[in-house]
Amino acid sequence: MKLEFPKGFLWGSATSSHQVEGGNFNDWTEWEKKNADKLVRKAKTFWHGRQKKKFPEMFESKNYISDKACDHYNRYEQDFDIVKELGHNAHRFSIEWSRIEPEEGKFDEKEIRHYKDVVEALRARGIEPLVTLYHWTMPVWFAKKGGWLNKDAYKYFERYVNKVVSQLSKLNSNSCVNFWVTINEPQIYSFNSFLKGVRPPQMKNPFRYYKVLKNLVLAHKKAYRVIKKINPGAQVGIGKNNIYFEYTSFVDYFWNRWFLNKIKKHQNFIGLQYYFHSCLFGNKSESVTDMGWEIYPKGIYHVLKELKRYKKPIYITENGLADADDSRREKFIKEHLQWVHKSIEGGVDVRGYFYWSLLDNFEWDKGYWPRFGLVEVNFETQERKIRPSAYKYAEICKNNTLDF
Ligand code: GCO
Repeated sequence: MKLEFPKGFLWGSATSSHQVEGGNFNDWTEWEKKNADKLVRKAKTFWHGRQKKKFPEMFESKNYISDKACDHYNRYEQDFDIVKELGHNAHRFSIEWSRIEPEEGKFDEKEIRHYKDVVEALRARGIEPLVTLYHWTMPVWFAKKGGWLNKDAYKYFERYVNKVVSQLSKLNSNSCVNFWVTINEPQIYSFNSFLKGVRPPQMKNPFRYYKVLKNLVLAHKKAYRVIKKINPGAQVGIGKNNIYFEYTSFVDYFWNRWFLNKIKKHQNFIGLQYYFHSCLFGNKSESVTDMGWEIYPKGIYHVLKELKRYKKPIYITENGLADADDSRREKFIKEHLQWVHKSIEGGVDVRGYFYWSLLDNFEWDKGYWPRFGLVEVNFETQERKIRPSAYKYAEICKNNTLDF
């Protein structure tokens, strides 16, 4: 069967600065050093049997320290050659706030130049950039002020956004960005940091959790206005992790719709990130990723249908799995795309798909062992190896058609 996607569909993959660049200095780099040994101990009690044997790196502290990551900061040209070879016509990456503004109010022009070069390198290869402004890491000075708990957080964010976006908006130039994601997964961020308390700043407090969410709504709205003022034609959205809940509940509303309802008038598109499905009794599917996450492709159809109510174009800004031996990735991508296509047939305006991730990278508090990449990375030598599934995905991208 051949399923053709709409003309102009964006095909690509995604990364984020802290997970791939290497050499960062931000709140996470500080936290990793302090917590690496604790994370090793946690892995020892959490993982059993097969998983333990397959990924012995999870018992080494260096697994939990981002350090050089994929050295993508220096190797982006080479990585974008791969992106091109794989037939992608778009690419999502993020700008590291701590590089742009390492000290409060002091902007590093060299780093702004760097990201201009990155955008130009994509455009030179005919690849449309989709740029995230905040993907979870923050400058240390901002963290010290309380980060997103600070009532003025939006002002700091606004100033940074204004600086970056005004430099990357010269119309018709090769460094012009047309698609901006202001904030990546506000809900996952605040949940892990302020409810579960497992990521920096590790504050388990429901009131703070709610406060952070409200401040992120405000920060997004302000950023939206700033961007539209600089470039009225720019398309602005957030990266939104939505879960397919099989039952109606307050959690469903609060997780999937609360944030989007608040920013209804301040977004041009929705960036959907789909990984999870929830039913009341256990999992539906036998198949899981290396991280033990259930694989449930049909869920993407349900969450897309749900998002139709917002009457906005949707770009799937993330969807992917940890699969070190690449035995499930091709099937995973194809099955998800089949359901994406079905939602398009049902009238959902989906305009792009970005697989997470281009490269194996630093998976936050799990470190380096989960392998999400279309491209395998040897973290000792920095050698890249394109996985077989990446070539299969490339065929889909090049033909704008899923053939199966
Ligand atoms: C996410 C993050 C990514 C993760 C990915 C896999 O938005 O959740 O963007 O940083 O690595 O989702 O967990």
